[in-house]
Amino acid sequence: MEKTIAVLPGDGIGPEVTKAAIKVLNSIAMRYGHTFHWKHAEIGGAAVDKYEVPLPQETIDACEASDAILLGAVGGPKWDQNAAHMRPEKGLLNIRKHFDLFANIRPVKAVPALLGSSPLKEEIAKQVDMVIVRELTSGLYFGEPKQRSEDAAVDTLVYTRKEIERIVDTAFEMARNRRGKVTSVDKANVLETSKLWRQVVEERKQEYPDVEVEHMLVDSAAMKLITDPRAFDVIVTENMFGDILSDEASVITGSLGMLPSASVRSDGFGLYEPVHGSAPDIAGQNKANPSAAILSAAMMLKQSFGMHAEAGAIEAAVMSVMDDGYCTGDLSASGNKVVSTDRFVTKVIEELERELVSE
Ligand code: NAD
Ligand code: IPM
Ligand code: MN
Repeated sequence: MEKTIAVLPGDGIGPEVTKAAIKVLNSIAMRYGHTFHWKHAEIGGAAVDKYEVPLPQETIDACEASDAILLGAVGGPKWDQNAAHMRPEKGLLNIRKHFDLFANIRPVKAVPALLGSSPLKEEIAKQVDMVIVRELTSGLYFGEPKQRSEDAAVDTLVYTRKEIERIVDTAFEMARNRRGKVTSVDKANVLETSKLWRQVVEERKQEYPDVEVEHMLVDSAAMKLITDPRAFDVIVTENMFGDILSDEASVITGSLGMLPSASVRSDGFGLYEPVHGSAPDIAGQNKANPSAAILSAAMMLKQSFGMHAEAGAIEAAVMSVMDDGYCTGDLSASGNKVVSTDRFVTKVIEELERELVSE
């Protein structure tokens, strides 16, 4: 197959981890006979510095002309005092909105070789296999009015029935192909948006009699994620709850550097990005864990291009390198051998070669 991929490295460790993902994808292309064309473009702080906007038209054009988007991370102290419209994060919010990428799919799966790095007891962290389905283009992030004066500030939480229906349907469909359970997370004891959310889930579930549904308040869900994470299969929730719960869930894997994500719209077009941010504390030091970016690339192959064998090969290679005792610094507590980002990527590519030879 021939595919064009827009690459938006962004800031901090973004460029380091996207470079890693590209190396792995180039190796896949060579071995499986695909051609990937890369279109590099700026987003976030890098775009603010070059174009004075966090999402330039050039970047939108590059993405429009591509089959999928691969993104690193945005943000950093350099731009933290910028006005809201000049913040790197605004570029990320704008690209999600521009392409209507309403469904953010964030799988969380325990990695056996890393159980020693999780602050959770091994018997709690092991066998966790869930996916957080986070609404990504509405809620508090986008509601109007959004403003500030000297003595007061306002953010607006709005959800329409249509916005809730489409994300809830996405979660039901996913549950059908997994263990058949949806946990809808809300704050229906307080928020009107959550009451509507709960009502829509109750209505939509009639279409999915094969799926078990439970409602959970977000505070209780935050607790249960740590005490009994195996109880979850598919979690569906609104934008901000999903943001917070997914970082919390990353502790199960031992590091935020392990969690990939896909941000997709109904026709399958998607942006693939790690859950983590630009990690300014370790940027430029060849220390970042590239797994989240590499696994996001695997999600892209599977979900946007239908390349299931290729995606499976990448996932197996990452797991196998960790089984062989290698990890980056964020996972040092696992007892594995700490290597640099580059070395880790080389190991993944060697493993991919080995997998294919042994097939
Ligand atoms: P962060 O995710 O960047 O970092 C949190 C902690 O996790 C840090 O200690 C960091 O070193 C570590 N970490 C994260 N990813 C890692 C990786 N791949 N390998 C090893 N360690 C890793 O969150 P933060 O520090 O709160 O935010 C930093 C900046 O990133 C902010 O500007 C924020 O707005 C931005 N951010 C961007 C995104 C995104 O682009 N999707 C997501 C979250 C935060
Ligand atoms: C994420 C990030 C973003 C979000 C920020 C950087 C705008 O935290 O992708 O999880 O809150 O969605
Ligand atoms: Mn986040």
